[in-house]
Amino acid sequence: MAYDNILTELRGDGPLKTALITLHRPKQLNALNDGLMDDLGHALLAFDADPGVGCIVVTGSEKAFAAGADIAAMAKYGFQDTYGGNFITRNWETIRSVRKPVIAAVAGFALGGGCELAMMCDFIIAADSAKFGQPEIKIGIMPGAGGTQRLPRAVGKSKAMDMILTARMMDAAEAERSGLVSRVVPADRLIDEALAAAAVICSYGMPSVMMAKECVNRAFEGTLSDGVAYERRLFHAMFATEDQKEGMDAFLTKRAPVFRHR
Ligand code: HXC
Repeated sequence: MAYDNILTELRGDGPLKTALITLHRPKQLNALNDGLMDDLGHALLAFDADPGVGCIVVTGSEKAFAAGADIAAMAKYGFQDTYGGNFITRNWETIRSVRKPVIAAVAGFALGGGCELAMMCDFIIAADSAKFGQPEIKIGIMPGAGGTQRLPRAVGKSKAMDMILTARMMDAAEAERSGLVSRVVPADRLIDEALAAAAVICSYGMPSVMMAKECVNRAFEGTLSDGVAYERRLFHAMFATEDQKEGMDAFLTKRAPVFRHR
């Protein structure tokens, strides 16, 4: 399907493909408006439901992953437009319901809602050109798409406070040191590296991939005891899958596993 504000394509040559979603409002540095967030939500749900897709990569341009929510659109809003219109929840949180892995491949600016969108993904691979920030305070607001919650969980309270209260940006090296991103790669290798990571994920059995994602996310939702109990139940359930039989037999017979991917 063709969208106005994003580009989509399927990549990879295994049985499971990677869906590559490119945010595409280049003149506005991919500022996130309703149109873009509607398109992104629609594409994410479609790829999540597609049995031929094993992983999703979300990226932007060389200059900007996304420079934030669209300030021109927000400038006109009053309280009732945001509260009554369910601003953010209406179309920003779709990504949270995606059950397959979503990798953010970030080059250039990931600011405000752009940084928050990247943090909503399962992990972030950064180009060495990436710059992360929550500069909302400079325009008289504060983060509103989870930044005050996810940033401290990722980088700790002190750094999160520093970034949110001073609006300073973090470069890729600091982001990796702080745990915000999983790896930093040369800018001209970003998409290839993200697709390579996605292809590795696509080579595994989908039940283990999806249940592992679900369990890691639990680590951020409740208590340690609840999370460990949840993990234990899904771990037990894995012994009902063909992938577990195949994976373990392949190891013991010294051959490559052939996962069914269904
Ligand atoms: C709308 C934006 C935009 C944004 C950039 N543009 N960011 N338009 N919303 N968030 C537009 C500019 O107006 C400009 O349009 C064009 O993109 C290029 O930007 P420049 O500023 O000319 O580029 P540059 O000098 O390279 O500076 C890049 C930048 C700067 C540092 C990223 O654009 C910037 O500071 N942008 C705003 C960042 C920000 O405050 N983000 C947080 C937004 S609030 P024209 O037409 O002039 O060429 C937010 C809240 C989230 O995200 C809450 C949850 C939804």
